[in-house]
Amino acid sequence: MKNSAFEHLLGQAPEFLAALRSAQLIAATDVTTLITGETGTGKELLAQSMHESSTRHGTAMITINCAALPDNLVEAELFGYRRGAFTDARQDQPGKFKAADGTTLFLDEVAELPLAAQVKLLRVLESGEIQPLGQTTTDKVDVRVIAATNRDLYELVQQGRFREDLYYRLNVVPLHLPPLRERFADIELLLGKMTARLAIYHRLDAPRYTTLAFEALQAYAWPGNVRELRNFCERMLVLMPGKQIDITNLPAEIIRPESTADDSLQLPGSGIQLDNLEASMIRQALSRVTGNQSKAARLLGITRSALIYRMKKYAIE
Ligand SMILES: Nc1ncnc2c1ncn2[C@@H]1O[C@H](COP(=O)(O)OP(=O)(O)OP(=O)(O)O)[C@@H](O)[C@H]1O
Ligand SMILES: [Mg+2]
Repeated sequence: MKNSAFEHLLGQAPEFLAALRSAQLIAATDVTTLITGETGTGKELLAQSMHESSTRHGTAMITINCAALPDNLVEAELFGYRRGAFTDARQDQPGKFKAADGTTLFLDEVAELPLAAQVKLLRVLESGEIQPLGQTTTDKVDVRVIAATNRDLYELVQQGRFREDLYYRLNVVPLHLPPLRERFADIELLLGKMTARLAIYHRLDAPRYTTLAFEALQAYAWPGNVRELRNFCERMLVLMPGKQIDITNLPAEIIRPESTADDSLQLPGSGIQLDNLEASMIRQALSRVTGNQSKAARLLGITRSALIYRMKKYAIE
């Protein structure tokens, strides 16, 4: 197995490493895999790495973005068609499954597949045979399928929008990539390594971050995950090469994440227990920054001594 294929995937957080270990174990097999995770968590990069370290690595992985196709074209695109199968079918088209014969097919945004195509996909996964539109016989194909989604597929199953049988068929070995905000220890590593890589690429000197700036980056939620962090590193590198970056140099959305001074949190009609809410927010802040009081205080917009006072009040360890 060529595990060097995984070296582009940076990170050392336990949840991330767990997903990586499973991915390395199953990469060499042909088992169908479902990669889940929010946008920008590295699903496509992981799929590519699994392909590179499999026996199929000499071939190019074929990718299809299920969200990018109109419903009526999905089946033709996936399974192909014969001339005359429908009005515009002027010649035989092989389809992605045929194109991926002998290699890996990456089904991106699989949650967006229409239900009719889901039925057919399940049949192909179970039989290893495709039936192009307008063809009465089936063709055997040797395809390893890796699917990915940033949706909660199980919830879509509950809502009847994704077939349960296909869900279980895809989810033989689930791989979940955690969001960056849950990979607290990885921000420093990713910031350093991605800045260094980009600095070489752009032939610029890497900037340095002050402690305060760095703490703001750790407290930020990174909704765009690794993609957002990578783009941030690039922006800082080209705007401030070789310079020191302090908190005042950071983009506004990072220093002042969604302001809580507005009315975005609505008081429920039944009222709340303000003390319980405050204690819960403090616990969540502490847990997000693995107990670091200064960082938790920054997340809550209060001073460290105010935080310690409240931790005593609510008997929070
Ligand atoms: N662990 C990682 N180490 C280094 N780079 C990463 C890592 N994870 C993601 N990236 C980079 O972040 C960017 C986004 O990754 P990718 O396209 O794989 O995300 P995705 O999960 O497929 O997102 P989406 O759901 O939006 O399609 C890419 O540039 C990728 O190289
Ligand atoms: Mg993707």
